[in-house]
Amino acid sequence: MPWATVRVATLADVAEVARLAARGLGEHLDGRAALSAPEIAVRLLEDLETGDLLYVGERRSRVIGFAQASELMVADGGHVVELLRIYVAPEHRRRGLGGDLVRALLHGFRLPVRPVLRAWAPCGSPIERFFQATGARPLRQRWKVVAGEMAIRGVVYAWSRHEPASTDQRLAR
Ligand SMILES: CC(C)(COP(=O)(O)OP(=O)(O)OC[C@H]1O[C@@H](n2cnc3c(N)ncnc32)[C@H](O)[C@@H]1OP(=O)(O)O)[C@@H](O)C(=O)NCCC(=O)NCCS
Repeated sequence: MPWATVRVATLADVAEVARLAARGLGEHLDGRAALSAPEIAVRLLEDLETGDLLYVGERRSRVIGFAQASELMVADGGHVVELLRIYVAPEHRRRGLGGDLVRALLHGFRLPVRPVLRAWAPCGSPIERFFQATGARPLRQRWKVVAGEMAIRGVVYAWSRHEPASTDQRLAR
């Protein structure tokens, strides 16, 4: 049996996800100001109503990680979803759950819909290394203003379901 499982979140998970998200404040991709767990829960409920995807990682009936993506959009001639947040509780990191959450989002649509999953990461950051390690390809450079004042140079990455995860490994050999 796997040490943790990944599944689509239900409304019953929202409070626990919000508590985890509040724990990871400051680690958000979008640089939004810090919010309390109840505020995050309310926003999350609204996001789910408007079509966002939410997956959770669970261990022994506790939510230990989650990933949220935007609703399906049409852009650049295809379907795109934005990775809005991904978080794994610190004590459970580097065991593959983050990668499993990304793969769950990528495969969360019924074929023939194969959206590209996109996300931004600051240049040289651990999150950028996580994106690269999980098969994301750099699309373009982009500056982002974080917390309303600091401009940070970063890269927009994209994961594609067409590419098998093993491609990188084959090329690396
Ligand atoms: C980013 C995050 C979700 C990764 O979760 P995770 O479960 O540890 O990820 P995985 O175990 O699947 O990591 C896969 C690979 O990514 C790379 N990686 C992951 N975290 C890394 C880090 N901090 N530094 C460098 N590389 C990293 C590694 O290559 C790793 O493989 P390895 O452990 O065999 O070396 C987790 O670190 C996290 O929640 N961080 C804080 C929140 C955050 O920054 N979120 C993004 C903005 S919303």
